[in-house]
Amino acid sequence: MEITLKAPLDMHLHLRDGDMLRLTAPLSAAHFAGAVVMPNLVPPVKDLASLSSYAERVQIATDGVTKNHEFACYMTLFFRAYSATELETVRAQRNFFGIKLYPAGITTNSAEGLVDWTAAEPTLKCMEELGIPLLVHGESHGFVMDRESEFLPIYRRLAESYPKLSICMEHITTAGAVKLLGEYENLCATITLHHLLLTLDDVIGGSMHPHLFCKPIAKRAEDRDALLEAALRGNPRVMFGSDSAPHPRHAKECCGCAAGVFTAPIALPCLATLFARHGALDHLQEFVSGNACRRYGLTPPAREVVLRDEPMCVPASYRGYGQTVVPMYAGEEIPWRVVKNW
Ligand code: DOR
Ligand code: ZN
Repeated sequence: MEITLKAPLDMHLHLRDGDMLRLTAPLSAAHFAGAVVMPNLVPPVKDLASLSSYAERVQIATDGVTKNHEFACYMTLFFRAYSATELETVRAQRNFFGIKLYPAGITTNSAEGLVDWTAAEPTLKCMEELGIPLLVHGESHGFVMDRESEFLPIYRRLAESYPKLSICMEHITTAGAVKLLGEYENLCATITLHHLLLTLDDVIGGSMHPHLFCKPIAKRAEDRDALLEAALRGNPRVMFGSDSAPHPRHAKECCGCAAGVFTAPIALPCLATLFARHGALDHLQEFVSGNACRRYGLTPPAREVVLRDEPMCVPASYRGYGQTVVPMYAGEEIPWRVVKNW
C-alpha cells in the first residue's frame, strides 16, 4: 500500500538553536513542506529582530536538504505585552505566523511566560483586530493529570471574550479538550503523534521511559481515544503538530529528565501506520495539511511525500554537530517508511 501526501505540515515544532537546530531542522525539512516553529529559546523569541534572525538560521539549517524544494518556516513570537505598533510591524514580516502563549514556568524555557491575564488583555484585543493567531500551551499549575482540564475554562473565556481571535489549543491531550473544540468557531487544536499513541501507562506504568516524558503528559486511554477519533474521522478543527522537542540525550537519560518527545523523523511513517491500521488513510491528507491550510489560509510549497507499508528501522539516535538526540521508537522497527520526498 502507498499514500502520497501533498505538502505535509508540522503545525507545532521545536527546532532549538545552534548545533541542535543544525542537527534536527534537516530531519523535519526532509519530510515536511513547512512547520510552525516554536519560540521557547533561551532567551525566548520576543521581538521582531530575534524573530527575523531566528528565521534566517532555520532557513540556513534546512537549505542543504531543500535544494529541490522549499521548507516554509512559519515563525512565532513568545507572548508578552506587545504594543499595537509592534504587532503591526511583525504582522507585515514574511514568515511570521502567530504568537505562542505559555503560562509562566509551565514547561521547557517558559520562565518568562504569562503571569497576569489582565495585563494580557490589550495585546489579545489588538491581535484579534489585526488577525494574528494566538497559540496556547493550555495547562494550569495544578495536579499533573488535571492541568489541561483545569485550563479549559480559560480557553472558554478567551474564545468568548475575543470571538474573532483565532485560538489554537496546542497539543491537546484530553477528551474534554476535543469536546470544547466543537463549541466555539474560533478554536482549533493541534494533536501530536505521541498523544495519539500513548497513555500514561506507556510513560511510567512499567519501567520509566524518559524519551516518552513530555508536557502535557500523556493521559488515560479514553482521552487518547477521543484524540484518535477526532484525527481519524477527519474533524476539520484538528491539525497535526508534532511538538517534536529534541533534548540532548544526557538531558533525557538522567535524574530530572527534560520534557519532550523527539518524533520529527518518524512522524509521517507512524501517522501512516496509525491511519492505515484504522482504515482512515483517506483522512490523513486533511490532518497533516488540508485542515491547517484552510484554517490559516496557508499555501505551502508544492511537495509530495510518498509513504509505503515497508518497514523501517528507527535509528538508535541521531548524531551530528556534537549533539545526540534519541527519537521515539529508537532501535525499533516501524511498519511504514517514506519512499519518496520531493
Ligand atoms: O514536552 C514538552 N517539551 N512540552 C512543551 O510544551 C515544550 C517542549 C520543549 O520545548 O521541550
Ligand atoms: Zn511545544
